[in-house]
Amino acid sequence: MPRESVAGGIAIIVDVLRASTTIVTALEAGATFVKPVVEVEEAQRLRSSSGESWLLGGERGGIQIPGFDLGNSPAEYCRSAVDGRGIVMTTTNGTLAIERCLAAEMILVGSFLNRNAVAREAVLLASNQGIDEIHLVCAGTNGYKTEEDFLGAGSIIHAGVSESSRNHLLDSESEKASTEFFRVVDGSSDAQSQLVESFRQSLGGRNLIELGMESDLILAAAMDQCCLVPCLCSKTGRLVSFDTL
Ligand code: MLT
Repeated sequence: MPRESVAGGIAIIVDVLRASTTIVTALEAGATFVKPVVEVEEAQRLRSSSGESWLLGGERGGIQIPGFDLGNSPAEYCRSAVDGRGIVMTTTNGTLAIERCLAAEMILVGSFLNRNAVAREAVLLASNQGIDEIHLVCAGTNGYKTEEDFLGAGSIIHAGVSESSRNHLLDSESEKASTEFFRVVDGSSDAQSQLVESFRQSLGGRNLIELGMESDLILAAAMDQCCLVPCLCSKTGRLVSFDTL
């Protein structure tokens, strides 16, 4: 994705398995901020400059980076581990996607956990600030599109765009994402299990199953668990809850 394609718009970063789910979970559990960085060395340098008070989190190849406090499983970012702490995070795809969107007017983080809240906030911001475009940016895996991010983007579109506006507001890819999400969960009394089933077939899901981290699929499929919307503060480069900005 060319960096300039999001310039002036709102970018919602979607890395359902797992960076965006984990960032939402961390802030919801009381972390004061998540500072996303691309390189491991940069994360280590920032932590040292904090007098070792910030936590280091992230993965390479899905596995916790040696010397880091936390990996990239949302389960690790519980209140007892992160409440009141700043976190420097680097992941293979998610934090890279954030860095690639720095030309956007505003960067938000979306997942199934906060899909309604992030959709609402983005639509409101766009209308209050006269911003014309909202971009759903799927992080993917190592340059490949992944089904779980496509579904995540579709669920946010589904939450944010009314049925009647769909035809004239959405490009064909967004329309497809929204329809695909609807197809997966429609008519199901148990949307979470349907999603987990779809994750199992997806590239990101298969990788996590191979690593023995299948339980993260269930956490990532917990729709509408919270109202928190992570937003990148342009002054500090930190992700914080939108309402504290
Ligand atoms: C990433 O940001 O690259 C992913 O979330 C990868 C992972 O969690 O394994």
